[in-house]
Amino acid sequence: MPSPRSRVEVGQREARYYDVFLNLLSVGRYSHFVKDVITRMDIKPGQSILDLGSGTGRNDCLMAQKIGSQGKIIGLDISDEMISQALKRCCKYANVNFKKLRIEPPLAYKEEFDKVFISFTLHGFEDDQKVGIIHNAYQALKPGGTFYILDYAEFDIDRMWFPLRRAFARWECQLAVEFLKLDIKGMIRTQGFTEVKEEFFLRGHLRLLSAVKPPSGHLMNR
Ligand SMILES: C[S@@+](CC[C@H](N)C(=O)[O-])C[C@H]1O[C@@H](n2cnc3c(N)ncnc32)[C@H](O)[C@@H]1O
Repeated sequence: MPSPRSRVEVGQREARYYDVFLNLLSVGRYSHFVKDVITRMDIKPGQSILDLGSGTGRNDCLMAQKIGSQGKIIGLDISDEMISQALKRCCKYANVNFKKLRIEPPLAYKEEFDKVFISFTLHGFEDDQKVGIIHNAYQALKPGGTFYILDYAEFDIDRMWFPLRRAFARWECQLAVEFLKLDIKGMIRTQGFTEVKEEFFLRGHLRLLSAVKPPSGHLMNR
């Protein structure tokens, strides 16, 4: 069930204009930013990637260029409109697929992916749901695989540049505000991940977290 404190489950209209909105909000810099992030994920030809909350598929198309024809990408999303846009956008990549599926209940994927990616989605879940999603990522990864979380960093909202603070307060939900103070690194370590690293963007407001499932990692039961 979506939390009433979340806005991450978008309506059809919001989904239709999602990319346009992000481009406007970032003054056209969003594509460049995402390309930079994906470059840092060190994606290799032949790798398999699970994208949780894949949205319009913009990130998946960029990742598809890196995996080549031998790799595979599966994007999961709950919005029909998002999935329809993603399918159109990535139609030239036969090895990129999208499924309508909730990402917080247990998923059927077990040790199947080299990387699991979640961007601007994790902040919109209650903490017990976040644990479910992190656990799903752990289960879906092959031993030695990497989990990437692109989302808000931990920062003091009162110190945010005024226009950004206004935009954040206008568009974001209560859970996103709480996310700024949340110990996500601790949460992913508790679920068995190691080698937690972070890279910051946009004056420290955004963060790419990466964490490794230990090579000897076995499936943790919930
Ligand atoms: C803010 S958008 C981010 C989309 C994409 N990851 C990006 O960075 O452009 C959040 C996405 O999560 C999806 N979503 C929200 N709740 C979900 C859930 N419970 N299960 C699967 N997808 C969900 C929404 O439909 C939306 O596409």
